[in-house]
Amino acid sequence: MSHNLLKGKKGIIFGALDENSIAWKTAERVHEEGGKFVLTNAPVAMRMGQINALAEKTGSKVIPADATSIEDLENLVDQAMEILGGKIDFVLHSIGMSINVRKGNHYTDQNYDWTQKGTDVSATSFHKVMQTLYKKDAMNDWGSIVALTYMAAQRVFPDYNDMADNKALLESIARSFGYFFGRDKKVRVNTISQSPTPTTAGSGVKGFDGFISYAEKMSPLGNATALDCANYTVTLFSDLTRKVTLQNLFHDGGFSNMGVSDAVMETFTK
Ligand SMILES: NC(=O)c1ccc[n+]([C@@H]2O[C@H](COP(=O)([O-])OP(=O)(O)OC[C@H]3O[C@@H](n4cnc5c(N)ncnc54)[C@H](O)[C@@H]3O)[C@@H](O)[C@H]2O)c1
Repeated sequence: MSHNLLKGKKGIIFGALDENSIAWKTAERVHEEGGKFVLTNAPVAMRMGQINALAEKTGSKVIPADATSIEDLENLVDQAMEILGGKIDFVLHSIGMSINVRKGNHYTDQNYDWTQKGTDVSATSFHKVMQTLYKKDAMNDWGSIVALTYMAAQRVFPDYNDMADNKALLESIARSFGYFFGRDKKVRVNTISQSPTPTTAGSGVKGFDGFISYAEKMSPLGNATALDCANYTVTLFSDLTRKVTLQNLFHDGGFSNMGVSDAVMETFTK
């Protein structure tokens, strides 16, 4: 199913860890739509190794970068422009990590060094990526930058822990930086608020199985899959959405506007 929506466009895709990753599916779909890109992930994720298979499949180069390191990001952007032969049209930030979640620390009992690290990786890194692109004037006019987020930024999901706060900051950074990127470089910046999705990051959240089933029952269209998310991202990278910016775009089968559904009510009525 290719429409050549991204023919001639060049980009950077962060966060493809394995074939379940939202970034992995996005890379595959962008490739099918004619886009060219560099893949990147944290050096530690490289050692786990699967990204090379994706690079081969999509004819891409892999450049390791810790998204919290300005030095790594500067090197990444310079190399990406060299490899792709010019400025960048699209960027996907698909990065999230909370050490408190990983280690099972409750929201009310955080280790603040871990909290800070999680914020740096999951939210501030988005600012760092954009600041690096902005200072290097690396984005083409009418380029598009997308980051992935979750509705715990607006509503309470107790087990999402400190990631909820990280996502609130991430969405704010998208708006704040998006203003300057739009005004100065005609580049749009949006976040996609995605349904719960079975990936390494997603499955790390306590009670994820219950969580994903509940969202499925609540959403009139059912949960959006990683592939659905990849397709939506392709539209945001394409020229068909040039005036969409500073938005947090819910991509969740309708979940975010539901109060209750028949399917959920059934489990409470005898
Ligand atoms: N899975 C879900 O339920 C869900 C729902 C909504 C939003 N999201 C968001 O989607 C994005 C992608 O996550 P995913 O679900 O595909 O999981 P994933 O685990 O496949 O991807 C997370 C990625 O972040 C990368 N990463 C971690 N630390 C990094 C660092 N310092 N520098 C560079 N990269 C780093 C990891 O290596 C990994 O590739 C995240 O922002 C996540 O919060 C996920």
